[in-house]
Amino acid sequence: MTTNTALITGASRGLGAAIARALAPTHDLILGARSADALTSILAELPGSIPWPVALTDYEAVAEAAKGIDRLDVLVHNAGVADLGTVESSTVDQWRNTLEVNLIAVAELTRLLLPALRAANGHVVFINSGAGIRANAGWASYAASKFGLRAFADALRIEEPDLRVTSIFPGRIDTDMQREIVAGEGRDYDPTHFLKASTVASAVLHAVETPADAQPVEIVIRPA
Ligand SMILES: NC(=O)c1ccc[n+]([C@@H]2O[C@H](COP(=O)([O-])OP(=O)(O)OC[C@H]3O[C@@H](n4cnc5c(N)ncnc54)[C@H](OP(=O)(O)O)[C@@H]3O)[C@@H](O)[C@H]2O)c1
Repeated sequence: MTTNTALITGASRGLGAAIARALAPTHDLILGARSADALTSILAELPGSIPWPVALTDYEAVAEAAKGIDRLDVLVHNAGVADLGTVESSTVDQWRNTLEVNLIAVAELTRLLLPALRAANGHVVFINSGAGIRANAGWASYAASKFGLRAFADALRIEEPDLRVTSIFPGRIDTDMQREIVAGEGRDYDPTHFLKASTVASAVLHAVETPADAQPVEIVIRPA
């Protein structure tokens, strides 16, 4: 019996590292981040995993890095940025960076890996956000990127009926990203107010382990 292979982007820390831990018992892992250094700690924790260091917006480098992958059972698009600001304060660069990392780079990586996913009748999991369902003040560019991500996932599901496509919409999670958001909001950080990354990772595992007769289309998960 062959073990399934999963590529997780943004696996160096936060939710991506938790997803790697959750999938490790049942999958050979390819773990992405911007640099090899960033992956040192998760690779020490999950020996045998393959590092996949590449900046996802460097499309030539991504194409090169994707070349060796010819069969892929699970692709988890987890890497993302939250560069928040009001409509009044958000610059063109801020909009571009957010849409580039959270949406365009996801589309390009999916496109490059389609042959590998088709070869395995693979499963593509998109880490979306509550902001992909409802936009709040100060979140326009991030929410727009996540609304777009939902649209991309929906189109992919229809275009590629032999793949399974799941969008996961978590509320706030206790990660580096959330610490920066709360600092930007000028509030004290209390991790107990937020989802544990391991809890959201268990929703990803549940989606991936859903028997083949079902397609888990969307999972919404919020702090209790
Ligand atoms: N935290 C929350 O409250 C929350 C809630 C809902 C949804 N989400 C979503 O969950 C996902 C993970 O968030 P998180 O909180 O775990 O974030 P995080 O702690 O900031 O970690 C982000 C991860 O993405 C990687 N990354 C960022 N930009 C990249 C790029 N250009 N190329 C390659 N990798 C890149 C980072 O790699 P490096 O280590 O190399 O920087 C890191 O592994 C994101 O899509 C986010 O939008 C988060």
